[in-house]
Amino acid sequence: MTALDTEPRNATSVPLAPLLAERWSPRGFATGHELSDEELTSLVEAARWTPSYFNQQPWRLAAARRGTALFDDIVDTLAEFNQLWMRRVSALVVLVTETERDGETVPYALYDAGQAAAHLSVQAAHLGLWAHQAAGFDKDAIATLLDLDPAQLPLTVIAIGEHTTAEDVPEKIRERDAAPRARRPLDEVLLAPLA
Ligand SMILES: Cc1cc2nc3c(=O)[nH]c(=O)nc-3n(C[C@H](O)[C@H](O)[C@H](O)COP(=O)(O)O)c2cc1C
Repeated sequence: MTALDTEPRNATSVPLAPLLAERWSPRGFATGHELSDEELTSLVEAARWTPSYFNQQPWRLAAARRGTALFDDIVDTLAEFNQLWMRRVSALVVLVTETERDGETVPYALYDAGQAAAHLSVQAAHLGLWAHQAAGFDKDAIATLLDLDPAQLPLTVIAIGEHTTAEDVPEKIRERDAAPRARRPLDEVLLAPLA
Protein backbone atom coordinates (compact mmCIF):
# COMPACT_ATOMS: atom_id res chain seq x y z
CA MET A 1 0.00 0.00 0.00
CA THR A 2 1.46 3.41 -0.95
CA ALA A 3 1.21 6.50 1.23
CA LEU A 4 -1.47 7.82 -1.12
CA ASP A 5 -3.76 4.88 -0.34
CA THR A 6 -3.75 5.56 3.39
CA GLU A 7 -5.72 8.09 5.42
CA PRO A 8 -3.69 11.14 6.48
CA ARG A 9 -2.70 11.17 10.15
CA ASN A 10 -4.62 14.39 10.80
CA ALA A 11 -8.28 14.01 9.81
CA THR A 12 -9.51 17.12 8.00
CA SER A 13 -12.70 18.05 6.15
CA VAL A 14 -10.68 18.85 3.02
CA PRO A 15 -7.21 17.68 1.91
CA LEU A 16 -4.12 19.51 3.22
CA ALA A 17 -0.53 19.74 2.04
CA PRO A 18 0.93 16.33 2.96
CA LEU A 19 3.55 17.79 5.33
CA LEU A 20 0.74 19.38 7.36
CA ALA A 21 -1.65 16.45 7.04
CA GLU A 22 0.94 14.10 8.53
CA ARG A 23 2.51 16.39 11.16
CA TRP A 24 2.42 15.28 14.78
CA SER A 25 4.52 15.46 17.93
CA PRO A 26 5.81 11.98 18.72
CA ARG A 27 7.94 11.20 21.77
CA GLY A 28 9.46 7.88 20.68
CA PHE A 29 12.69 8.74 18.88
CA ALA A 30 15.35 6.55 17.25
CA THR A 31 18.74 6.85 18.94
CA GLY A 32 20.34 5.39 15.80
CA HIS A 33 19.37 8.41 13.72
CA GLU A 34 21.83 11.26 13.17
CA LEU A 35 21.21 14.66 11.64
CA SER A 36 23.69 15.85 8.98
CA ASP A 37 25.24 19.34 9.00
CA GLU A 38 23.08 20.27 6.01
CA GLU A 39 19.87 19.01 7.62
CA LEU A 40 20.58 20.89 10.85
CA THR A 41 21.38 24.06 8.92
CA SER A 42 18.18 23.69 6.87
CA LEU A 43 16.10 23.78 10.05
CA VAL A 44 17.68 27.09 11.05
CA GLU A 45 17.31 28.47 7.53
CA ALA A 46 13.60 27.58 7.50
CA ALA A 47 13.17 29.53 10.72
CA ARG A 48 15.32 32.45 9.51
CA TRP A 49 13.05 33.15 6.54
CA THR A 50 9.80 33.35 8.47
CA PRO A 51 7.78 36.58 8.25
CA SER A 52 8.58 39.03 11.03
CA TYR A 53 6.75 42.05 12.38
CA PHE A 54 8.59 45.08 10.89
CA ASN A 55 11.30 42.51 10.16
CA GLN A 56 12.63 42.88 13.72
CA GLN A 57 13.50 39.16 13.97
CA PRO A 58 13.55 39.15 17.79
CA TRP A 59 14.04 35.41 18.26
CA ARG A 60 17.32 33.50 18.53
CA LEU A 61 18.09 29.82 18.77
CA ALA A 62 20.79 27.35 19.79
CA ALA A 63 20.90 23.92 18.17
CA ALA A 64 22.88 20.90 19.38
CA ARG A 65 23.06 17.32 18.19
CA ARG A 66 23.02 14.26 20.43
CA GLY A 67 26.54 13.36 21.51
CA THR A 68 27.66 16.97 22.03
CA ALA A 69 28.33 18.67 25.37
CA LEU A 70 25.72 21.34 24.64
CA PHE A 71 23.06 18.68 23.97
CA ASP A 72 23.78 17.05 27.35
CA ASP A 73 23.69 20.43 29.08
CA ILE A 74 20.28 21.21 27.53
CA VAL A 75 18.95 17.79 28.59
CA ASP A 76 19.96 18.64 32.19
CA THR A 77 17.59 21.64 32.13
CA LEU A 78 14.56 19.56 31.07
CA ALA A 79 11.70 18.49 33.32
CA GLU A 80 11.94 14.84 34.38
CA PHE A 81 9.26 13.54 31.97
CA ASN A 82 10.79 15.42 29.06
CA GLN A 83 14.26 14.06 29.86
CA LEU A 84 12.86 10.55 29.48
CA TRP A 85 12.18 10.99 25.78
CA MET A 86 14.20 14.07 24.76
CA ARG A 87 17.60 12.62 25.65
CA ARG A 88 17.05 10.15 22.78
CA VAL A 89 16.40 12.68 19.99
CA SER A 90 18.79 13.62 17.17
CA ALA A 91 18.95 17.34 18.01
CA LEU A 92 17.58 19.87 20.47
CA VAL A 93 16.83 23.46 19.47
CA VAL A 94 16.42 26.10 22.18
CA LEU A 95 14.20 28.97 21.04
CA VAL A 96 14.27 32.31 22.85
CA THR A 97 12.89 35.70 21.98
CA GLU A 98 13.87 39.25 22.79
CA THR A 99 10.97 40.86 24.61
CA GLU A 100 12.43 44.37 25.07
CA ARG A 101 14.71 46.52 22.95
CA ASP A 102 16.03 49.90 24.14
CA GLY A 103 13.55 49.85 27.03
CA GLU A 104 10.56 49.32 24.71
CA THR A 105 8.46 46.16 24.42
CA VAL A 106 9.18 44.34 21.16
CA PRO A 107 5.73 43.99 19.54
CA TYR A 108 4.77 40.55 18.26
CA ALA A 109 7.93 38.95 19.70
CA LEU A 110 6.02 35.81 20.70
CA TYR A 111 4.11 35.74 17.42
CA ASP A 112 7.34 35.90 15.42
CA ALA A 113 9.00 33.18 17.50
CA GLY A 114 5.97 30.90 17.13
CA GLN A 115 6.16 31.23 13.37
CA ALA A 116 9.86 30.40 13.43
CA ALA A 117 9.07 27.22 15.39
CA ALA A 118 6.27 26.31 12.98
CA HIS A 119 8.42 26.71 9.88
CA LEU A 120 11.25 24.76 11.50
CA SER A 121 8.74 21.98 12.23
CA VAL A 122 7.58 21.87 8.61
CA GLN A 123 11.19 21.71 7.40
CA ALA A 124 11.76 18.79 9.82
CA ALA A 125 8.76 17.02 8.23
CA HIS A 126 10.25 17.71 4.79
CA LEU A 127 13.38 15.85 5.97
CA GLY A 128 11.20 12.90 6.97
CA LEU A 129 11.69 13.80 10.64
CA TRP A 130 9.46 15.19 13.40
CA ALA A 131 9.77 18.22 15.62
CA HIS A 132 8.32 18.14 19.12
CA GLN A 133 8.18 21.45 20.97
CA ALA A 134 8.48 21.45 24.76
CA ALA A 135 8.07 24.16 27.38
CA GLY A 136 8.89 21.87 30.30
CA PHE A 137 12.40 22.99 31.20
CA ASP A 138 14.16 25.21 33.74
CA LYS A 139 14.13 28.69 32.16
CA ASP A 140 16.73 30.09 34.57
CA ALA A 141 19.09 27.18 33.89
CA ILE A 142 18.78 27.70 30.13
CA ALA A 143 19.41 31.45 30.57
CA THR A 144 22.60 30.66 32.48
CA LEU A 145 23.70 27.94 30.03
CA LEU A 146 23.28 30.19 26.98
CA ASP A 147 24.34 33.39 28.73
CA LEU A 148 21.06 35.07 27.79
CA ASP A 149 20.41 38.76 28.15
CA PRO A 150 17.68 39.51 30.75
CA ALA A 151 15.48 40.72 27.86
CA GLN A 152 15.72 37.31 26.15
CA LEU A 153 12.88 35.02 27.19
CA PRO A 154 13.40 31.24 26.82
CA LEU A 155 10.32 29.78 25.10
CA THR A 156 10.75 26.17 24.04
CA VAL A 157 13.21 23.36 23.51
CA ILE A 158 12.35 21.69 20.20
CA ALA A 159 13.23 18.04 19.75
CA ILE A 160 14.08 16.82 16.25
CA GLY A 161 14.44 13.23 15.19
CA GLU A 162 13.13 10.09 13.57
CA HIS A 163 10.13 8.38 15.10
CA THR A 164 10.32 4.77 16.19
CA THR A 165 8.13 2.28 18.04
CA ALA A 166 11.17 0.11 18.85
CA GLU A 167 11.28 -1.81 22.12
CA ASP A 168 14.06 0.36 23.55
CA VAL A 169 11.65 3.33 23.74
CA PRO A 170 10.27 3.44 27.33
CA GLU A 171 6.83 1.77 27.45
CA LYS A 172 5.24 4.89 28.94
CA ILE A 173 6.39 6.83 25.88
CA ARG A 174 5.18 4.24 23.38
CA GLU A 175 1.77 4.32 25.06
CA ARG A 176 1.65 8.12 24.77
CA ASP A 177 2.52 7.94 21.06
CA ALA A 178 -0.23 5.36 20.46
CA ALA A 179 -2.88 7.44 22.28
CA PRO A 180 -5.56 9.17 20.17
CA ARG A 181 -4.89 12.78 19.14
CA ALA A 182 -7.69 15.30 18.78
CA ARG A 183 -8.42 18.91 17.91
CA ARG A 184 -11.36 21.22 18.52
CA PRO A 185 -13.96 20.82 15.77
CA LEU A 186 -13.79 23.26 12.88
CA ASP A 187 -16.91 25.22 13.89
CA GLU A 188 -15.42 25.76 17.36
CA VAL A 189 -12.31 27.51 16.06
CA LEU A 190 -14.30 29.84 13.79
CA LEU A 191 -15.30 33.22 15.19
CA ALA A 192 -17.85 33.48 12.39
CA PRO A 193 -19.04 31.05 9.73
CA LEU A 194 -16.73 30.84 6.71
CA ALA A 195 -17.94 33.54 4.32
C1 LIG B 1 4.50 25.64 23.38
C2 LIG B 1 4.39 24.15 23.52
C3 LIG B 1 4.90 23.53 24.65
C4 LIG B 1 4.85 22.13 24.78
N1 LIG B 1 5.44 21.54 25.87
C5 LIG B 1 5.54 20.18 25.92
C6 LIG B 1 6.32 19.55 26.92
O1 LIG B 1 6.96 20.19 27.78
N2 LIG B 1 6.38 18.19 26.91
C7 LIG B 1 5.73 17.42 25.99
O2 LIG B 1 5.85 16.20 26.05
N3 LIG B 1 5.00 18.01 24.99
C8 LIG B 1 4.89 19.36 24.93
N4 LIG B 1 4.20 19.97 23.91
C9 LIG B 1 3.57 19.13 22.86
C10 LIG B 1 2.07 19.15 22.95
O3 LIG B 1 1.66 18.43 24.08
C11 LIG B 1 1.51 18.56 21.64
O4 LIG B 1 1.84 19.40 20.56
C12 LIG B 1 0.00 18.44 21.74
O5 LIG B 1 -0.32 17.42 22.63
C13 LIG B 1 -0.63 18.12 20.41
O6 LIG B 1 -0.06 16.98 19.84
P1 LIG B 1 0.36 16.95 18.31
O7 LIG B 1 1.41 18.03 18.11
O8 LIG B 1 0.89 15.54 18.05
O9 LIG B 1 -0.86 17.23 17.49
C14 LIG B 1 4.23 21.35 23.77
C15 LIG B 1 3.71 21.99 22.63
C16 LIG B 1 3.80 23.36 22.49
C17 LIG B 1 3.28 24.01 21.22
